[in-house]
Amino acid sequence: MKESVEAIRQEVNAVTIKSAGELEAFRLRFLVRKGCVASLFDKLREIDPAERPEYGKLLNDLRKAAERKYEEARKELEASSSRKTRHGIDLTLPGRRRFLGSEHPVQQVLGDMKRIFSAMGFTIATGPELESGSNNFDMLNFPPDHPARDMQDTFFIRRRDGEDDILLRTHTSPVQIRVMLEEKPPIRVICPGKVYRNEAISARSYCVFHQLEGLYIDRKVSFADLKATIFSFTKQMFGSDVQLRFRPSFFPFTEPSAEVDVSCYLCGGKGCRVCKQSGWLEIMGCGMVHPNVMRNCGIDPDDYSGFAFGMGVDRTTLLRYRIDDIRLLFENDIRMLEQFSQ
Ligand code: PHE
Repeated sequence: MKESVEAIRQEVNAVTIKSAGELEAFRLRFLVRKGCVASLFDKLREIDPAERPEYGKLLNDLRKAAERKYEEARKELEASSSRKTRHGIDLTLPGRRRFLGSEHPVQQVLGDMKRIFSAMGFTIATGPELESGSNNFDMLNFPPDHPARDMQDTFFIRRRDGEDDILLRTHTSPVQIRVMLEEKPPIRVICPGKVYRNEAISARSYCVFHQLEGLYIDRKVSFADLKATIFSFTKQMFGSDVQLRFRPSFFPFTEPSAEVDVSCYLCGGKGCRVCKQSGWLEIMGCGMVHPNVMRNCGIDPDDYSGFAFGMGVDRTTLLRYRIDDIRLLFENDIRMLEQFSQ
């Protein structure tokens, strides 16, 4: 008998009551008429009357302890539930943070590029992604048989004999045509935006990507102005210690033309996997605006000259954030995007 009382006393002490369910379980086990404490009282009849007062006292103490524990737990639970409002919301709990959205990594890089060129006096021009074949190719001095006009490279939306093509622009240069047709020099614009090319999709190339092109037309604009502008931009964008390299190149709309490399800012030019051990990263094409393009837009190339440049934004984004697949930039997977909240 003594052992039973002691065992139940220990059990009562050990129980923790954290919820209404546990409180009820406690009541059913220890406090009700058929509970284990009451059944010990029933056994009182069976023991020696001389020992009854002692056991009676032990049992009474046990019952009081159980009742006290029950009351305390009940009050505690009631107090904590009164912290909740009528709707069951506990206003004292710390708030849950929600992902409010963030600027896409491509837009963050584009934003930096725009800020640098804006500070140099360039304004932003935009145009439609659905372009005419004439703005995308003819006005830019592409010969009629240029391979870029091939279905393999360009997404044509409509091609009819005797009519202008409708296509998804393959670069943002047609925006520069639109600006030249509308405005008189001096012209100083950058054209950021999405462009489309019918390429094999892989971790490194996608059918849509972002470009930022620039155009500067005024009297006596020289290749030295182009170099100085690119020089200033790259130092601000990639770091003051990057080296630049201009390689002769060809574009139908610029003459002379060049491709620009920066010393690899990941390995400092020593050679790594990203720059394919060359120490250089190709970042843009550029050149002096072709006289034919100026003429096409009603600007006299004997009076004016200008330079243009164009670069991809996505590759720089991949390098900056160490993202290894360009497709991630276009899938809009929230698990990827929320890593870029600032
Ligand atoms: N339009 C070219 C391209 O998409 C880039 C470029 C722009 C090159 C301006 C030279 C001058 O590849």
